[in-house]
Amino acid sequence: MLRVGMLTSGGDCQALNATMRGVAKSLYKSDKEVEITGFLNGYRGLMYEEYRVMKPSDFSGILTTGGTMLGTSRQPFKLMRDPDENGMDKVEAMKSTYKKLKLDCLVVLGGNGSQKTANLLSEEGLNVIGLPKTIDNDLYGTDMTFGFQSAVDIATNAIDCIHTTAASHSRVFIVEVMGHKVGWLTLYAGLAGGADIILIPEIPFDIKKIADAIKLREAEGKRFTILAVAEGAISKEDAALSKKELKKKRLKNADRYPSISYEIGDILSQETGVEVRVTVPGHTQRGGAPNPYDRALATRLGAHGAELILNKQYGRLVVLKGTEVTDISLSESAGKLKYVDPESSLVNEARLVGISFGDK
Ligand code: F6P
Repeated sequence: MLRVGMLTSGGDCQALNATMRGVAKSLYKSDKEVEITGFLNGYRGLMYEEYRVMKPSDFSGILTTGGTMLGTSRQPFKLMRDPDENGMDKVEAMKSTYKKLKLDCLVVLGGNGSQKTANLLSEEGLNVIGLPKTIDNDLYGTDMTFGFQSAVDIATNAIDCIHTTAASHSRVFIVEVMGHKVGWLTLYAGLAGGADIILIPEIPFDIKKIADAIKLREAEGKRFTILAVAEGAISKEDAALSKKELKKKRLKNADRYPSISYEIGDILSQETGVEVRVTVPGHTQRGGAPNPYDRALATRLGAHGAELILNKQYGRLVVLKGTEVTDISLSESAGKLKYVDPESSLVNEARLVGISFGDK
């Protein structure tokens, strides 16, 4: 009997179910007798022995469903070595559940933090396979994470909807896009939605340059300007502050500015005299059904994960390199983020079509 544990960890995204289905279908199709245990609510389920033994039918009809049938939770990596509120050692508890259930392998569907924990468990001697999840696309070592393309669709749709209303008014519109500390989602949605200005954390902005870009559009007879702003966008001035100073500044302004877009909007209306409106699609970007790209990617990643399990190749993270699904060691990815390279052709091409990054 091959016993496989599975969990989904961190923020949810589209195609979590599709990825689990890819793993499960491939395992059930093998010549092995397979039992899959689904841990509930991410690593919590592994810590507190909250799980259910899955049936093959659980993995049917879920290719197109959003969210995760197992539930998820955030269990920050930096707190993994701290005992829980009752003094329980979390890492030891997870190892104990794994051993008690006589698992051969644990499959972790997660982003950066979750894969760091997966690597920790692997170093602690468990057999672990990681599958690359997140709408942020910031997992180091993979060209693409599942969930990202579906989130691009939603963020792009938000920009598309703003376009029609923007064209009716002489206003500046800001659409704030998720992505945590990186700009992938904003950059792709901004390109796809035809944003005029794209602000991402990797390219700190100068508010005066943004105002100049808006004025230039006005001078060209354009009635409106659309900015796609990453939730992690940062001014050159703030980028020069220490972490502590930045935190202090943001805390002081928290009532006035719930997020960076409101601060940018406020300063821009003072600088340019134009009306500014802010739209934050927020968690809608993680919601709904996975798009066809993600369904296919999830199925491929899941199938490769199953192949690794059947070949007893553990401690691996399944990744996409170019058009090929392959794998790297969990330790190669752990603790690193994949940022947008400001010198990449992607950024250059955006600049070539006239998109301003607010930096020059
Ligand atoms: O990592 C996915 C993500 O949606 C980020 O883009 C965002 O910064 C964060 O999660 C939001 O987290 P939460 O759902 O915990 O508010």
